[in-house]
Amino acid sequence: MIKKAVIPVAGFGTRFLPASKAIPKEMFPVLDKPTIQYVVEEAVASGIRDILMIISRGKRSVEEHFDRNPELERLLEHKGQQQELEQIRQISGLANIEFVWQKEMNGLGDAVKLARNHIGEEPFALLLGDTIIQSRIPATRQLMDVYAKHGGCVIGLEAVPQDKVSRYGIIKGHRLEDGVYLLEDLIEKPTVDNAPSNLAIAGRYVLTAEIFKCLERVTPDQKGETQLTHALQILLGKTPMHGMLLEGYRHDIGNKLDFLKANLLFGLEHPELGRPLREFLHELTARADDDWLGG
Ligand code: G1P
Repeated sequence: MIKKAVIPVAGFGTRFLPASKAIPKEMFPVLDKPTIQYVVEEAVASGIRDILMIISRGKRSVEEHFDRNPELERLLEHKGQQQELEQIRQISGLANIEFVWQKEMNGLGDAVKLARNHIGEEPFALLLGDTIIQSRIPATRQLMDVYAKHGGCVIGLEAVPQDKVSRYGIIKGHRLEDGVYLLEDLIEKPTVDNAPSNLAIAGRYVLTAEIFKCLERVTPDQKGETQLTHALQILLGKTPMHGMLLEGYRHDIGNKLDFLKANLLFGLEHPELGRPLREFLHELTARADDDWLGG
């Protein structure tokens, strides 16, 4: 049983400057909710209520978002805004969330290391805080189902176009069953020529606690960052590691185009906004490319 999740809320968000200068990318709203709330809701919908977030300087608003805000609650109560009041209360009641501070941003592996005390010896889920996976079955639940069947570690995968492999951790493996692979290797951000496949690590993992010992053995890369993928490579020799092609749509919110697409796709699914948004999109596509502003 996976009972705990770790969500690193780390990284500078340099691909989204200047918006990310003072607002963490994890707090960027997709429709009416910050990105990080979707990630927490995915963990909760997967059956996990014990969540540890690794946060770093400049990310305090994430902590505040999940805290209670009694003044705001009183105000909404006073004004009779019941629906908003429930929404606000629901956020702080979603899960038991604890926070650990990463004092220096030394990479994803370094952030995960900080979860060791909280996790102890249990397997746990790891969800990257800047990635939303829009799916029918919560992505973490999909991995937990593979874990229940096969054990070991399970890594969520996405098939990416060949020219994008150098942005991701890429796996080598052989197919066990539909959508499930037994991994033989993982390479962090390979060149197109060195990529063993086009199956990318998609920001969702189920890991055993052995990962912490492996992280201790990783030498930081040229940028001084400890890569989680390097620790997974070490772990690969000790425990079976499975890859699972996630069903759903992955949005990397640190990427501007993905951010726009996420807002559109969630907007199209929204009960009230879906229809007018669809009409607007039809209207836009019917016009000449350069005529959007009526010029
Ligand atoms: C991290 C991981 C990489 C993974 C990616 C998914 O990279 O190191 O293996 O494919 O997340 O988003 P980052 O995006 O932090 O550079």
